[in-house]
Amino acid sequence: MKNVFVFDHPLIQHKLALIRDENTGSKEFRELVEEVAVLMAYEVTRHLPLEEVEVKTPVGPAKVKMLCGKKLGIVPILRAGLGMVNGMLKLIPAARVGHIGLYRDPDTLMPVEYYCKLPSDVSERELIILDPMLATGGSAAKAVEILKEKGANNIKLMCLIAAPEGIEAVHKQHPDVEIYTAAVDEKLNSHGYIIPGLGDAGDRLFGTK
Ligand code: PRP
Ligand code: URA
Repeated sequence: MKNVFVFDHPLIQHKLALIRDENTGSKEFRELVEEVAVLMAYEVTRHLPLEEVEVKTPVGPAKVKMLCGKKLGIVPILRAGLGMVNGMLKLIPAARVGHIGLYRDPDTLMPVEYYCKLPSDVSERELIILDPMLATGGSAAKAVEILKEKGANNIKLMCLIAAPEGIEAVHKQHPDVEIYTAAVDEKLNSHGYIIPGLGDAGDRLFGTK
């Protein structure tokens, strides 16, 4: 699949298996989602450009490589995307964080926007949208649309589990957006839930029902 990257790192796969398990409670679920986000941050930043600079070690000058000022932004989709923020910030502490509030209407499954607060310079940043679940793709596609309306032109989407239907829907509207995921599952059920998925990510993270 073009512009779809599935993380096959054994630690990510192992932790995702624990996250999916219905016996995993909210505390452990939150910890695991954060840990997976750290590992994904490592993978999703492989392409960042480096420049050679000089630092002074205690015994002399050294030519070293440092990130050369690419501006990053991470944009969790509320609520469940919040679970991935701290993991990302552990490896990319200078990233700015924007928030987009969307919920799925339970009848139509269409995304409803209720909040948006973004860094003022999104057009200059590489943005990574965070949401554990890419189901119908409505929420992710809407988030990309909101970011593009504000001038963003470099957008990636990072999730834990994607349904084929969601990947297709996002790429139909936004073929330029690279999708990073730990798994592509089988399908959606009639309520728009990913099968086998992990259930309702927001409820499992925050202990609601
Ligand atoms: C979930 C999930 C995604 C969305 C995915 O959020 O976190 O944002 O559903 O579904 P889609 O691809 O069909 O749009 P939900 O709407 O349940 O809101 P919540 O995070 O506040 O619980
Ligand atoms: N949202 C979730 O939290 N889980 C799904 O399976 C689909 C949408």
